[in-house]
Amino acid sequence: METELLYALRDPAGVPSHPVIFLVLGVLTFALHIAAVQMMLGTAALTIWGALSRGEYRRRLAQSMVNVAKVMVSVAIVLGVAPLLFVQVIYDPFWYTSNVLSAWWVIGFILILLVGYTLLYVFYWRNTALATAPRARSTWAMIASVALLLVVGWIMHVLAQQMLHPEQWMAWYAPNGELDTSGTGMHAFHPWRFLFFIALGAPVTGALLVAYQRYFRARNDVDPAYLDWVGTLAFRLINIGGVVAVALGAAWMATLPESIARFGFSPWVMGALAGLLGFVGFAHWVRSRADSPWAYAVLAVGTLAIIMVAAAREALRWGMLHGIHGYNALDYKVNTDWYSTLTFFITFGVMGAGVLAYYLTVAWRAGQTRGVYTASAAVDRMGNVAIGMLVLWILHYFALGFYWWAL
Ligand code: HEM
Repeated sequence: METELLYALRDPAGVPSHPVIFLVLGVLTFALHIAAVQMMLGTAALTIWGALSRGEYRRRLAQSMVNVAKVMVSVAIVLGVAPLLFVQVIYDPFWYTSNVLSAWWVIGFILILLVGYTLLYVFYWRNTALATAPRARSTWAMIASVALLLVVGWIMHVLAQQMLHPEQWMAWYAPNGELDTSGTGMHAFHPWRFLFFIALGAPVTGALLVAYQRYFRARNDVDPAYLDWVGTLAFRLINIGGVVAVALGAAWMATLPESIARFGFSPWVMGALAGLLGFVGFAHWVRSRADSPWAYAVLAVGTLAIIMVAAAREALRWGMLHGIHGYNALDYKVNTDWYSTLTFFITFGVMGAGVLAYYLTVAWRAGQTRGVYTASAAVDRMGNVAIGMLVLWILHYFALGFYWWAL
């Protein structure tokens, strides 16, 4: 009966290509989203740490980190939209019910995010010379910003948890038979799970710092002693943060509901654990080669580990929704629409990759240049191609709109 109800909540129009595509993209984009969230929180925490200190290196690092944090908020937001699209396509009966049960928080999410992001800018604008100023200004704004961003993450966590418990929806919607249509409640949470994802911010930010210290070795105006100090801090964050995160992950697995308790020993969890330990071990190996290009590989191995964690998280959702409630996301009705599928992959793989390659090339070269950076003819050409692709995409968007309008 419950399973039938869940199927009845599906979109009768079906999905435009096989659901496995949405499932896999959901896992990959969630991994990227959470990695960006972790870097955002880690760099913001290092900014506060530096702002509260008078130490020369800490301040210098804070000056760099506030720049990274402010970009990472927008990366985390953009990369949050992708898993949002995929989760609501194949898990719509669960996602929308969870959203309706906490509707006030879903709307409040945007406001809280806006205020949190603005406060980060308040700190940034007030501290243009953070590295050298005798005192940081408005540090409270940075602390409040991180607190609000954490509330935003908590809301996402609650929505992701509520969707896993359809057996409790009625009790939340009509406690003791009395309807509660307010949408102000937050009904399910799992603090170990939330803390696990947040704690991973330490090793992930450590991986970023390993790359940072290697990158700036190309500049002869950056003090090598400062970069050595950053390197030491980075490996400490990976080691200590890695151990803390694994302990929190174990606490999460140990406190799963009884009906799914065995999942904690599944190959998915063992794979994620191996990924995280492999990442810490690899970073340890790179430590004595931190000034070689291997330093960048720590970031790549860290990303792989996060993808394995995201896969285990998805397997848990599958185990609960399919194993306990009989809902199979892969038997969603398919109403193939090649046009929209191709548009998605071309936008993502050709246009997205092309434009991003241009941005990254410019950012990479500008950062390693002392003084003003002048792009080479090849980079200029890349820029023109990127703009051309964007113009084509916008023209295509309007042409399609007019075509359907005229039909
Ligand atoms: C900027 C602050 C944010 C933080 C700290 C944050 C943090 C998190 C965390 C910790 C989770 C995992 C929850 C869990 O599995 O228990 C999560 C999931 C998620 N986040 Fe974010 N998030 C942020 C912003 C956003 C934004 C702006 C969006 C969308 C536009 C978004 C979309 C999502 C989605 C869709 C999921 C769940 C994906 C799924 O279950 O498949 N997040 N986020």
